[in-house]
Amino acid sequence: MARGLFVTGTDTNVGKTTVAAALMHRYRGRVPLRYWKPIQTGIEADDDTATVESLGGCHEREIERDGVRLPRPVSPHLAARWQGMTIDLEPLSAVPHQPAHDVAWIVEGAGGVLVPINERETMSDLMSAIGLAAVVAARTALGTINHTLLTLEALRHRGISVAGVVLVGARDDDARAAIADYGRVAILGDMPHFAPLTTTALAGWAPALDPDGQLLRWLT
Ligand SMILES: Nc1ncnc2c1ncn2[C@@H]1O[C@H](COP(=O)(O)OP(=O)(O)O)[C@@H](O)[C@H]1O
Ligand SMILES: [Mg+2]
Repeated sequence: MARGLFVTGTDTNVGKTTVAAALMHRYRGRVPLRYWKPIQTGIEADDDTATVESLGGCHEREIERDGVRLPRPVSPHLAARWQGMTIDLEPLSAVPHQPAHDVAWIVEGAGGVLVPINERETMSDLMSAIGLAAVVAARTALGTINHTLLTLEALRHRGISVAGVVLVGARDDDARAAIADYGRVAILGDMPHFAPLTTTALAGWAPALDPDGQLLRWLT
């Protein structure tokens, strides 16, 4: 069985890539890690793989470069359709199960859990097929309680294990408590807004991510 975590989020642009890079800093000393972005849309403007490589201070061997890469910055089902292709789940879901790879995977989704990837399937189907527990990146901004609880409910409804939530932005203790209580979920970290966001800033904060090491049960 593949080991690792699938970083998803309540929305696009919430901080999934940044959380994935922080996980690389946090755990590479304990476990050999590999970052993977199975589906990237808008590749010309956004290349999360390159961002994590740099922000996560990654060695080349820590990056899996395979995957679906599409030019238009829209939902995967549309980005694929506009290229005259269909995204097939099967080859993607096999990647972290390759027996030669004795690593823990940090996989990043595209958009949120119910983003369509083809005519029939959503990101949650890819998550189920890959079989890793989810880390949910969420904003601290107003609206996050609803978005986070909806995301947790959708994951659990589909039998996807939830490893915890990382909150990104100016700390809001009331929202944090509500998500933990109503969502019955571990808050793994409170990532501040870094100005600027740099490799050094992220590496410096990384020990505060999952300080109790709860995530090791999914990584080792
Ligand atoms: N903690 C942070 N401090 C400062 N900027 C951040 C932080 N987290 C994310 N960002 C910025 O917010 C934007 C979205 O973050 P990103 O991690 O790419 O989100 P996602 O992967 O969910 O689309 C990016 O421009 C990123 O640089
Ligand atoms: Mg991203």
